[in-house]
Amino acid sequence: MADDSPKGVLGHLPPLPRRALSNSFLAMEQASRKREGLPLLSDADIEALKAGRPMDWESGDAVSVPAATGSQATPAPTDPPAAQEAPKPVPVTSAPSSPISDEVAKWVAAGKKWSKSSIAAEQAHRSRKGLPALNDAEITALLGEPAAPAAPPAGPPAPQAAPRPAAVTATAASVPRTAAATVTASADATVARSGEPTKYVGTPAVGTSKAVASAGVAAVGPENNEVNQQRRRLVWSTVAAFLTAWFIAFFRFFLPRTLFEPATSFKIGYPEEYGLGVDTKWQQKYRIWVDRTPDRLFVIYARCTHLGCTPDWKSADNKFKCPCHGSGYDSEGVNFEGPAPRPMDRAHVERSPDGQILVDVSRLYQWPKGQPSQFNDDGAFLPL
Ligand code: FES
Repeated sequence: MADDSPKGVLGHLPPLPRRALSNSFLAMEQASRKREGLPLLSDADIEALKAGRPMDWESGDAVSVPAATGSQATPAPTDPPAAQEAPKPVPVTSAPSSPISDEVAKWVAAGKKWSKSSIAAEQAHRSRKGLPALNDAEITALLGEPAAPAAPPAGPPAPQAAPRPAAVTATAASVPRTAAATVTASADATVARSGEPTKYVGTPAVGTSKAVASAGVAAVGPENNEVNQQRRRLVWSTVAAFLTAWFIAFFRFFLPRTLFEPATSFKIGYPEEYGLGVDTKWQQKYRIWVDRTPDRLFVIYARCTHLGCTPDWKSADNKFKCPCHGSGYDSEGVNFEGPAPRPMDRAHVERSPDGQILVDVSRLYQWPKGQPSQFNDDGAFLPL
């Protein structure tokens, strides 16, 4: 019979006459129909296609509504209320009286409760093998969920009777294929219980979330409740804090590592503030001693000339003593014992405009061993 059905029914199947189709071809056709929202091929359709026979509805015989035209199947808006017409006596198809196959019933009887991922894997397995997919009732039974309301008992034709069970069959006249094309696929109907189905291209890997979604099983993952939202916020806050700390550390890498040393030039007050002898009040801050004699004031830089230690002023002994190797200096910083090779250096001093003593430790005066002394140069002392 010529195919005057819409593309949504025939899908990508070759027109009549056709040769026997392989399992892989049929699996691809089922996947394509699932993606495009077309009704899935029923078991009878698949058997006919594998045998190279026209499908029941193609040959004009009684038709079995594909699984996609399950309980949510509704006539298209353009569909005339065929049920209100005088129904023709049509043969009932060979659709199973129970929506649950014997194999699935055996699994359910075994008492093992299936998970959604297990069902997804089973669906993918069936798709690969060209076997009919699990229908809603089978999935519900395997998940251990309460069974759907029972179908009304068979009786006199009651076309206006509302819900139609998934396994109920219809004739080609009462359910035109155009109406069937608008029916949501069985898998999509299953997904609709928990949200919009996810569309994927190709066959997803078994056991993955894509496989679960494409198989029509409810979406996996935690619920979007308040607790999970708080958890997500905590996780993202932790990630943001880590990345921020990492970025700061990375940015700090490009900054120079600078040591801020004290200024080398500074004021230390007026000469009248210092008495005769050694004053150690600037030792900690500027590493200097202020030494005043009856006729001059000079500043000794507190660094041992042996290896650079800072000597101590021993007022009781009236000398400087280096704690490192025992060098001794008199009250004017001239070495007289120990390994020190020469007197301690003296810093440049001068009068600032305001009359204070201005010291510059970057300019030192020395008395190298065996060479002339610089201690009497201008700037090495302040005359009083
Ligand atoms: Fe002062 Fe050696 S560093 S004596």
